[in-house]
Amino acid sequence: MALERTFSIIKPDAVAKNVIGAIYNRFETAGLRIVASKMLHLSKEQAEGFYAEHSARPFFGALVSFMTSGPVMIQVLEGENAVRKNREIMGATNPAEALAGTLRADYAASIDENACHGSDAAESAAREIAYFFADEELCPRTR
Ligand code: PPS
Repeated sequence: MALERTFSIIKPDAVAKNVIGAIYNRFETAGLRIVASKMLHLSKEQAEGFYAEHSARPFFGALVSFMTSGPVMIQVLEGENAVRKNREIMGATNPAEALAGTLRADYAASIDENACHGSDAAESAAREIAYFFADEELCPRTR
């Protein structure tokens, strides 16, 4: 299969727990390569825009408030089946349902503060990557 890219966020709760390196290690151990990354503190507008498809959901305000509560680490991951692989590494949205050994089982406290985000399909990955990264910020493997 051809290489695929996905978009990932290490959310404010996990950044505050100081587990960025531990999470990067999970990505790399699973064969995913970080081809772009940056730390940023999302503005309300950035978070609302990113989660626009959920704007009518009852948790939308709390989600935007949480995502702007501290810095996040965002990255583009590249590898075979990157979208599916990253979703497996993360575990279920609700950490109470996440399999042992997944990021959310290990680092998330609740469905409201669940440690990480990963694109759910190749199409959303392309949109989400373009939302935060210019093409020239992506550094694919050369050797
Ligand atoms: S759902 O319920 O299946 O449609 O949820 P999903 O599309 O997987 O994700 C919705 C995003 O909102 C975050 N979030 C919550 N979801 C459900 N319930 C509550 N209470 C909630 N609070 C926040 C959830 O983590 C998803 O964000 P991302 O960043 O994609 O993980």
